[in-house]
Amino acid sequence: MELLLLAALSSVLALSLIFLLFRHKLSSGPKLPPGSFGWPVLGETVEFLFGKPEKFVGDRMRKYSSSVFKTNILGEKVAVFCGPAGNKFIFSNEQKLVTEWRPHSMQKLMRSYEAKSPPPPPINPNESKTKVLRQPGFLKPEALSRFMEQMDSTTQQHMEFHWEGHSKVLVFPLSKNYTLSLASKFFLGLNEHDRITRLAKEFDDVSLGLHSIPWKIPGTIFYNASQGATEIRKELLSVIREKKEALASGARSQDILTYMVAAADPATGRMMPDVEIADKMMGLLTAGYNTVASAITFLMKFVAERPDIYNKILAEQVEIKKSKNPGEPLVWEDIQKMKYSWNVTSEVLRLTPPLQGTFREAMTDITYEGYTIPKGWKIYWTVSTTNKDPTYFPDPETFDPARYEEGNAALPPYTYVPFGGGPRLCPGKEYARLAILTFLHNVVNRFKWELVDPKEKIVEDMIPTPSKGLPVRLLPHPA
Ligand SMILES: *[C@@H]1O[C@H](CO)[C@@H](O)[C@H](O)[C@H]1NC(C)=O
Ligand SMILES: *[C@@H]1O[C@H](CO)[C@@H](O)[C@H](O)[C@H]1NC(C)=O
Ligand SMILES: *[C@@H]1O[C@H](CO)[C@@H](O)[C@H](O)[C@H]1NC(C)=O
Ligand SMILES: *[C@@H]1O[C@H](CO)[C@@H](O)[C@H](O)[C@H]1NC(C)=O
Repeated sequence: MELLLLAALSSVLALSLIFLLFRHKLSSGPKLPPGSFGWPVLGETVEFLFGKPEKFVGDRMRKYSSSVFKTNILGEKVAVFCGPAGNKFIFSNEQKLVTEWRPHSMQKLMRSYEAKSPPPPPINPNESKTKVLRQPGFLKPEALSRFMEQMDSTTQQHMEFHWEGHSKVLVFPLSKNYTLSLASKFFLGLNEHDRITRLAKEFDDVSLGLHSIPWKIPGTIFYNASQGATEIRKELLSVIREKKEALASGARSQDILTYMVAAADPATGRMMPDVEIADKMMGLLTAGYNTVASAITFLMKFVAERPDIYNKILAEQVEIKKSKNPGEPLVWEDIQKMKYSWNVTSEVLRLTPPLQGTFREAMTDITYEGYTIPKGWKIYWTVSTTNKDPTYFPDPETFDPARYEEGNAALPPYTYVPFGGGPRLCPGKEYARLAILTFLHNVVNRFKWELVDPKEKIVEDMIPTPSKGLPVRLLPHPA
């Protein structure tokens, strides 16, 4: 469907392309970065969305410039900043030269609600600027630490329900079920896991639609995503209503939704309307869902392929388990001891990054490497410009957690950036780390596993996906 529409459009577009090329020759202006805007309207969106992200970037870095190139994707002129220097420039110029920007598809899916009157201007503009960049309190280590016991028990329930007693499981769908039940407990305070996990397909559609062409035509990715978002909002609104009733009758709970329902927005002093809370919750649930599930899935895959690595993880996790009384839940300090396990996870994030990168907007004309990036252009950074560069990661296709060990040459700054960096470092990083390591602790202490299909194809679009859902055979663990 997507491709059919594109084909129909392209003949019309070809004509305007010729016109644009001609006009371009006549105009002289600031020196823009090298690169191609591709087709009119569509630009290079199709190549960007439906191919290996690494290839999209790698091809253009070789062809145009290894520091910055221009393109036209998702309806915008975009400068892609490359390499550690590009990452550094973006991460250190937040709110000075660049500001956050989200693709139109993402904006449309995540906001159903527009405030009727604009919020009152903040008292001190400097203060509000720093506020935008501060990590929300509920994702800070202290808050997450309090959630550890529930995280561990949710993980155990998940294992008992979906893994124990099975000889074969599909890792990817189960990981999604796991991350959704975790997120619905953490963000919404829900114990009925089914209520949100049954919407897994809708969440999948929304995740896919976040980077898409925002045409609401039946059959397209964006159309499916909008339908999914509507279903999710409906359920969230009913959860919010119930939460309010429960609060009104004196119930106490600690989740983030309760906090949002009960508190006024400190920036504006007003209570948030239900629809706005639902939008925010959908954003949080979506962000913590597919990315974490993808990381867990590829962790399971790489570890299955490397018994030597499995054994080292097992040794570390058995040690932690032994240090505790039977049935005693994991705590924050236990997670800090999972150093080797985290290094293995880091290598998974390097080889199959769950998040490619994010966009910014130029707040002013920016001069970079002798080129001008005009005000209003979008700027993109992506893990793909560094994570497989042999200069920083020798033998880049090899899965080698030892590259993070002390004694090995330290990685230059801004080369390893799976969570971004600077003031906008992914606020969910700690949450993701806890969820992944808690999962690993619980799975390794129960099973060893092997891949059912070692040659299973990996679809490498914006989020890498095993084509069959990563079936594995579960074996009793050797310890
Ligand atoms: C905001 O910061 C700028 C410098 O960054 C300073 O000149 C200005 O006075 C500050 N404004 C307020 C209201 O504090
Ligand atoms: C997820 O798990 C719950 C049980 O915890 C189950 O009822 C539900 O059907 C599962 N959802 C999916 C999409 O597998
Ligand atoms: C949209 O959803 C329908 C129904 O679930 C499905 O058949 C179709 O393949 C989806 N389209 C895309 C582009 O994913
Ligand atoms: C894990 O990586 C850190 C650096 O991130 C390093 O200091 C440490 O030695 C590594 N630990 C193990 C056990 O590999």
